[in-house]
Amino acid sequence: MSVVDEVKARLDIFDVISETVSLRKSGQSYTGFCPFHTNTKTPSFVLFPHTQTWRCFGACADGGDIFSFVMKRDGTDFKETLAYLAERAGVKLETRNHSTPAQDEQRIKLLTLNSAAAVYFHHQLINSPVGATTRRYLMERSLTSETIVTFQLGYAPNQGKQLIQHFTQRGYTIEELQQVGLIGLPDDGSAPYDRFRHRLMIPIHNRKGEVIGFGARALADKQHPKYLNSPQTVFFDKSATLYGLHLARKQISQQNQAVIVEGYMDVIQAHQQGAKNVVAQMGTALTESQLKLLSAGSPKIVLALDSDAAGNAATVRGLSMARQVLPKKRRPTMTARGIDFESHLTQEIYIAALPTGQDPDDVLRQGLEAWQKLLDQAIPSLDFYEQLILKNTDFQSPQGKSSVVKSLIPIYRDVGDEIEKSARVQRLARTIGIDERLLMAELTGNSPAETQRTKPSRQPPPALKTEQGPTHTASISTVSGPMGLEEYCLSLILTYPSTLAMANDALEQQGLPPLTADDFNRGEHQEIFRSMQLWTASQIPKLEILTDMVGQPLAQQIVRLTNQWKHHVKVSVPELQQDLQVTVLKIRIENVNAQITQLKFLQQNSTPAMQRKYMVMVGEYQQLRKKLDSAKG
Ligand code: CTP
Ligand code: MN
Repeated sequence: MSVVDEVKARLDIFDVISETVSLRKSGQSYTGFCPFHTNTKTPSFVLFPHTQTWRCFGACADGGDIFSFVMKRDGTDFKETLAYLAERAGVKLETRNHSTPAQDEQRIKLLTLNSAAAVYFHHQLINSPVGATTRRYLMERSLTSETIVTFQLGYAPNQGKQLIQHFTQRGYTIEELQQVGLIGLPDDGSAPYDRFRHRLMIPIHNRKGEVIGFGARALADKQHPKYLNSPQTVFFDKSATLYGLHLARKQISQQNQAVIVEGYMDVIQAHQQGAKNVVAQMGTALTESQLKLLSAGSPKIVLALDSDAAGNAATVRGLSMARQVLPKKRRPTMTARGIDFESHLTQEIYIAALPTGQDPDDVLRQGLEAWQKLLDQAIPSLDFYEQLILKNTDFQSPQGKSSVVKSLIPIYRDVGDEIEKSARVQRLARTIGIDERLLMAELTGNSPAETQRTKPSRQPPPALKTEQGPTHTASISTVSGPMGLEEYCLSLILTYPSTLAMANDALEQQGLPPLTADDFNRGEHQEIFRSMQLWTASQIPKLEILTDMVGQPLAQQIVRLTNQWKHHVKVSVPELQQDLQVTVLKIRIENVNAQITQLKFLQQNSTPAMQRKYMVMVGEYQQLRKKLDSAKG
C-alpha cells in the first residue's frame, strides 16, 4: 500500500470535513453547506462515507477525496497536504531526497540565517534609535504596527559592517553570509560589506513562509536604486516568486481568486485593508513559474495593471498568450439542453486597469470598496487586447481593417479551444464589417495571402517517432492489468506524452472538453496530472524532470505507472491516441454514473422540493451520459 493509501485508510474523511462543515445525516450520506462558496438556502455539499468522497452539487460543482478537500480548504499543495494528513494519521513519511544529511543541515543553517536576519532588521526598526526615521516614514504611509509585525518589516542601519559583525559573532561565516546575499564581497579582495544600508527592509518568503530574500526600499532621495533586492541565491529566484503568497494563499484558495499587483507596498496595503488574496510579481514581467505557483485549485487570476502597462499592446498581448499555459477549468453548466461543458474556458487572466497615475496602494487607501469596484471591472486578457487594438485603430478604413486582422488573427490561432476560437472570429467579423469566411480562411492559413506560411503543427516528441509505421495492433487495454481507469489514463500519457494533445483535440472535435485535473477523483492523480500538463507540452518530456518536479512519494508512483508499459507490444500513435480518448470517456462515464447514484441516494431522504430538484439533475446527468456514450462509440 502506498503512503497515500495508508493515510486515506487510517483517516475518516468525516472527521476532517466536519471540522469545517456542519454535517447532517441524510440516509447513507451527510449534507451541509458548501464551504467554498456562499450558500443561500439549500445545502449542496454532500459527503459519502462509504466511498470517502465529497461533492458539491451547487455553484462550485467540485468534488474529490480527503486530499482534494484539504488542498482546497487550506490552499496547500499536494506535498504539504500529505505531510499534514500523514501526521494526523500517524503515518511516517520517508523523506527520500538526493541530499546528504550534511547538505540538509547546511540548507537549514542558511534558511535560519535568513530568518535571523529578518528578525535582526525588524528589531532595528522597532527598538533602536536609528530606526526612528523609518518608523515615522511607515506611519506617514499609514501602515499600522500590526501590519509592520505581520510583514516583519525592518530597517538596515547605515553602517558598513554592523550586520557582518552581528552574525559572525554568532557563528556564521562570511561565505554563508554571501551565499544568502546579505553582504557584498568585492572581487579585488577588499573587505566585505553589508549589502543593505539605510533601507526599509521587506523580507520575502516562499509559499511555505520561509524567508528566502529581501526587498529593500531607499529612504533618502539620492539613494539608488529605489529598491535593492537580494541577488539570486539557492533560495531566491525573483522570477519564480510571488511576494506575499504565504500570507495570501489561504484566501486565494477560499475566494478562488488571486490578485497580482506590481509592488511590495501594494501587497502590504492590500492586506492591511483586508484584501488578503493579493500577491506581487515584484516589478518584472509575469512569468510562467509565477503563474504555476497559483495553479493549484485554478483560481481566477486578476492582474492589476497600471495605466501605462494596460495601454501597451505588447504587454497585453503577452498576457493574452500566457493564458494558454494555465490549466483548463471545466465547469459543467446547466443549459436548456441539460448539463453542458460547452462554456468551458481556458482559465483566464483578467486585467483590471488602474486609473492613470495611480497604483494599487493609492486605490486601496481610498478603501476596500474602491478596490473591489476596480476588480469587478476586470476583463479577460484577450478581450482586453481586442478592445485595445480596436480602440487604437480606425477600423472603418480598409488599411485599419487589415491592421486589426493582422494583430488579432495570430493570437486567435493560439487559442486552444475551438469553440472559443470561432466565436471570436465571428465577433470580430461583425465588429469590423468583414466577411466571416474570409477571416476564417485567414485563421486557418487557407487564404491566398497565407499560402506561404507553414502552418504550425504539433510535432510528436522524438521518442515517439520510432513507434510510427506499420506495427502490430494489439488491444492496448490488456496492458492495464489491475490498474484502475484513472491510473491507466495517467500511465498512457506518461509513456506517450504527445498523445494528450492529440486526444484533447479529438475530444474537442466531439464537442467535449479536454482532459483536466477535475476529471480525476483521487487527489494524488489530480496532482500528477496537473504537474504533467505543462510537461507534456515540452520539446522532449523527460521522465526525470517530472519526477523531480513532483518529489516523493508521487515520483515513485509515476515510475510504477510507467513500468507497466515496459514489455508491451508496439502500437501506433493513432491507436494510442484513440485509446486515451476512450479511456477519458470511460472515466467520465464512470463519474457521471457515480453522480447519478449519489443523487438517487439523496433523493430518498429529502424534502419533496429537493426531490424534484435532484430528479431534474439526474435527468441532466443521464443526458450527459448519453452524449459521452455516443462519443465513445
Ligand atoms: N522594483 C524592484 N527594483 C526596482 C524598482 C522596482 O524590484 N529598482 C519592484 C519592487 O518589487 C516594487 C515594484 O517593482 O515594489 C514596483 O515598483 P514601484 O512602483 O517603483 O514601487 P512601489 O511598489 O510603488 O513602491 P512605493 O509605493 O514605495 O513607491
Ligand atoms: Mn507605490
